[in-house]
Amino acid sequence: MEIIRVANAQEGGKKAFEIIKEGMTKGVKVLGLATGSTPETLYAELRGSDLDFSNMTSINLDEYVGLDENDAQSYRTFMKENLFNAKPFKESYVPNGKAEDINAETKRYDTIIAENPIDIQILGIGQNGHIGFNEPGTPFDSHTHLVELTESTINANKRFFDKVEDVPTQAISMGIASINTAKEIILMAYGESKADAIQAMVNGPVTEEMPASSLQNHVNVVVIVDEAAASKL
Ligand code: F6R
Repeated sequence: MEIIRVANAQEGGKKAFEIIKEGMTKGVKVLGLATGSTPETLYAELRGSDLDFSNMTSINLDEYVGLDENDAQSYRTFMKENLFNAKPFKESYVPNGKAEDINAETKRYDTIIAENPIDIQILGIGQNGHIGFNEPGTPFDSHTHLVELTESTINANKRFFDKVEDVPTQAISMGIASINTAKEIILMAYGESKADAIQAMVNGPVTEEMPASSLQNHVNVVVIVDEAAASKL
């Protein structure tokens, strides 16, 4: 893993932006995207740039189960507001959290990933080491699947909802194996609350109890961290 230390999230967003921009000059066509607070500065850079995504494909990591894609809290809405409205892609895939047959939806999503191999995957990390919504204990050979969210993740995400009871308890997420098919992975983390997860991801044992540690087995991972997130390295 290559570790890049930055002063703050603004600088981290600029670093990630430069990697994507450079990649696009070398033929990057498919971006794997994440939601949450972490990639917001990257998306601001992309929105403000002159990059054109109209010939590119994006594939998001995950979506809550039970939320309509137009729901204010859906990850599709987050992506529209943070990126897609300003920078439309040829095609943007997000799992359908309202699918009647969730199992069929996970299979459909795996087919999308297989047909559009991800060139650069953007990741954040949970305080418990999750990537996507792959919580501790998720098998490393997992593909897109239905996830029961842990209390830790529900609590971390309640800030986006009126009350904790409104946070969905399930999500559809790309699996660990799906994420690791990406040719390059950029994981960003900012703030002290991520320090333990970053330390375990980089230096800890490779174990399903720490989903992000699977990235130690990937040949092309860039980790962008501020001083607080890197404080336990
Ligand atoms: C989001 C995702 C999650 C987040 C993680 C960190 O699509 O898959 O793994 O990246 O929960 O969230 P933030 O960035 O809000 O701290």
